[in-house]
Amino acid sequence: MNAPMIKRPFDVEAIRADFTILSRQVHDRPLVYLDNAASAQKPEAVIEAMAAQMRGAYANVHRGLHTLANETTEAFENARAAVARFIGAATPEQIVFTKGGTQAINIVANGIDIHPGDEIVLSVMEHHSNIVPWHFLRERKGAVLKWLDIDDDGGIDLAALDALIGPKTKMVAVTHMSNVLGAKTPAAEIVRIAHAKGVPVLLDGCQSTVHGRVDVGALDVDFFAFTGHKLYGPTGIGVLYGKAERLKALRPFEGGGEMIDIVERERVLYNEPPHRFEAGTPPIIEAVGLHAAIDWLNRQDRAALEAHEAALRDRAMSALGEINWIKLHGRAAGKGAIVAFSMDGAHPHDVAQILDRQGVAIRAGHHCAQPLMQRLGVTATARASFACYNRAEEVDVLIEALHKARKLLG
Ligand SMILES: Cc1ncc(COP(=O)(O)O)c(C=O)c1O
Repeated sequence: MNAPMIKRPFDVEAIRADFTILSRQVHDRPLVYLDNAASAQKPEAVIEAMAAQMRGAYANVHRGLHTLANETTEAFENARAAVARFIGAATPEQIVFTKGGTQAINIVANGIDIHPGDEIVLSVMEHHSNIVPWHFLRERKGAVLKWLDIDDDGGIDLAALDALIGPKTKMVAVTHMSNVLGAKTPAAEIVRIAHAKGVPVLLDGCQSTVHGRVDVGALDVDFFAFTGHKLYGPTGIGVLYGKAERLKALRPFEGGGEMIDIVERERVLYNEPPHRFEAGTPPIIEAVGLHAAIDWLNRQDRAALEAHEAALRDRAMSALGEINWIKLHGRAAGKGAIVAFSMDGAHPHDVAQILDRQGVAIRAGHHCAQPLMQRLGVTATARASFACYNRAEEVDVLIEALHKARKLLG
C-alpha cells in the first residue's frame, strides 16, 4: 500500500472531489460540514483501501503460516511503520495501535505505578479522555490530581506549571491542542520543564495531529496519543506512541492473545512492546485505513492545507467577532481551526438544530470538557471546526445561518 507520494498543489475543489459525502444534501441544502473536531470525513482513498484489503487479502494477523495471513500482517505492520514516519517516531515498535485516542491514554494511566499521594498534573482544558483515566487513579489508588489553570484563550502559564510539578508528580498529561478553544499548548517547553524534574509527559494529540505536523522526536515527549477518525481515517483506531524505555516500563492494561510470550498455569510472560499492549485481534482493517489517510495527507501540500485552515479560522473569527450577540471563546494567536462561541439568550443545542435545518453541521454541548466549561463560566457552547476541504464561502453560510437562528430565537 505504498502509493507514490507526488504532492499536488492545493485546490480546495480538487480536495473536495476526494470526499464523496461532501456533495450530499441535508434538508434540501448543500451540506456544510463544520463538525470536523468531532470527526472528519473520509476520502475515497481510505474507503477503497479498506474495502480492497477485505476483498483481496484478508486474514487474522501474526498467527498464520499461510499466504493471506502473511499479506495481512504485512499490510498491518506497514501501517505501523507509516504512522511512525508520520509523527517522527524513531522505530515502528514505538507505535501501539489502540481503538482510539481514549484507549491510548487509558493504557498509560493503567500502566504506571501509582501509590497513595502520587500526583498527576492536568490542565483544566483537557478532554474527558485525558481526565477520567486519571480520576480512576484518584479513586482507586489514592492519586492526587493537580490542576493547571489557563487564561481565557487557553494560554498556559509555564511558571505555574513549574510550581505544580513536585517530588510526588508521576505524570504531566496535557493536550497538544484544545478541542474547544483551539489553543495549542507550548509542548516543547512543557516537556523541558517536566523533564528538568524527571517527570514524564503525555501529550493528547487527538486534535493537533490533523492541523499541523507532529514530530514526537523533536518534542522529546514520552507519550503521544491520537486518534484516526479526526485525521480523515476510520473510527476504531488510535495510536499510542511511547519512548522505547517508557513503553517497556508500562504494565499491560488488557490481557489476552498476542500480548504474551509464555502462558503457564502459574505464570505469564508478556510480549515486547508494541504487541504487549495489543491484546486480542487488533484493528487490522482500520490500520490499513489509517495508513491510507496518512498517505492521502502526505500527498497534499501540508503547508498549504494549514494556511487554508488558518484562513478559514480567521474569516470565521473576524465575522463572528463583529456580531454583538455572539461571544467567542478562545482567541489565541495561531490557534487551530476550531471556533467556539455562545449566542446571547440562546442555548447552543437550539442554535445547532436550527443550523442543521440549513444544512450546516456544527456541534453544541460541553464537548467532553466540563472542567473547561466551568472555567469559562458556561454549561455549553456552540463549536464550528474546519477541515482542509471546507470552502471560504461555507464560513459565510455559517454566518447567514446564525443570523436566521437569531431571528428565530432572539
Ligand atoms: C482533545 C481530545 N482528546 C481525546 C479525544 C478522544 O478521542 P477518541 O474519541 O477518538 O477516543 C478527543 C475526541 O473528541 C479529543 O478531542
